[in-house]
Amino acid sequence: MNNFTFHNPTRIHFGRGQIAKISDEISKDSKVLITYGGGSIKKNGVYDQVLKSLEGYNIFEFSGIEPNPTYETLMQAVEIVRKEKIDFILAVGGGSVIDGTKFIAAAAPFEGEPWNIVVKGASFTQALPFGTILTLPATGSEMNCGSVITHKASGTKRGFMHPLVFPVFSVLDPETTFTLPRKQISNGVIDAFVHTTEQYLTYNADAPLQDRLAESILQTLIEEGPKGLQSPEDYNARSNIMWCATMALNGVIGAGVPQDWATHMIGHELTAKFNIDHAQTLAIILPSTLSLMRTAKQEKLLQYGERVWGITEGREEERIEAAIEKTREFFESLEIKTRLQDYNVSESDFDDLITKLEEQGMIQLGEHRDITLEKSREILRLSL
Ligand code: NZQ
Ligand code: ZN
Repeated sequence: MNNFTFHNPTRIHFGRGQIAKISDEISKDSKVLITYGGGSIKKNGVYDQVLKSLEGYNIFEFSGIEPNPTYETLMQAVEIVRKEKIDFILAVGGGSVIDGTKFIAAAAPFEGEPWNIVVKGASFTQALPFGTILTLPATGSEMNCGSVITHKASGTKRGFMHPLVFPVFSVLDPETTFTLPRKQISNGVIDAFVHTTEQYLTYNADAPLQDRLAESILQTLIEEGPKGLQSPEDYNARSNIMWCATMALNGVIGAGVPQDWATHMIGHELTAKFNIDHAQTLAIILPSTLSLMRTAKQEKLLQYGERVWGITEGREEERIEAAIEKTREFFESLEIKTRLQDYNVSESDFDDLITKLEEQGMIQLGEHRDITLEKSREILRLSL
């Protein structure tokens, strides 16, 4: 196992009715900015629950944080935070609202150009405290310190991580997910699944606990994902999906083991250029990454095939092929297409995608840093 330092300060309030807890978390004399997206929280009662819990507080609102949140939109919220001297932010929504709030929290006290926090890793020493109410299980953003922001003007989608942007608390009430459109629940299951494979399908680091935790998350998603999709109000299925998504990217399964993330980096370019949903890009790219890198990942792919999919028969090469095929079939069974052609992307688009990867220094991806631009192009080709 590799050395690691693990610290996760986010308090989780899980379950029905837990939104009421937020008044215990936020000091009564705070000026609170509630951030949210396009309005789903007003249709499903979450907004009303939040207002009820914050009765008597000095509240401001910022709505309109879009999926794949943009720097341009978020800077409008930064203005409000500065002008109104906001001292606590409450993010209510999915990964985009939470990621956007992390950026706002760091950008508001920042003295230089805030985009440099994302694109140049500019250091900062303060960020506003914030909490979250998660309404879409997927990204793990509710219990991690990562944030992915899009700069619309330049078509760039990039992430930053910083210990000051861990949420102080997050409320995970599975009932808030009952109103999710089918596609978003499938997206969430796939995002959590691929977060797990990014930290598991690499090479053996003699870390059996992390392996078995990862395999448990994958198996739970395989069992509960379809139930949660078919029965939107199946509280138990939605609970299990929600907790899987949080556990997949809160630092636990990735501690002390090699990590890949090539699928995510190539996927971000597809979102930036074609506006394909984040999880859809992962469903397209993961099978091809596994296929191209099958030699380097051989031992783990065989273990994955056997322990997650029960594949024990056949030659090694056949078992690996079957494991990759099972993965693709799982994504397709969740009604998410796994080929670039399904999204009208063709080989003539690859030059732009590769140039963008190059511009951002994404020239050595993967756990061995050996996914060159040439290999990324091959991954795209295999995804057609
Ligand atoms: O904006 P509203 O009206 O709220 O609608 C949203 C949005 O249209 C809707 N929605 C959310 N909760 C709902 C709901 N609709 C009905 N009922 C509910 N309960 O769902 C739509 C998508 O929301 P979004 O927040 O964009 O989805 P997701 O949670 O999948 O977040 C995706 C973003 O997170 C980033 C992605 O790149 C993408 O920008 N990621 C963040 C990560 C992190 N911080 O660690 C890691 C991930 O790999 C990922 O990159
Ligand atoms: Zn993801």
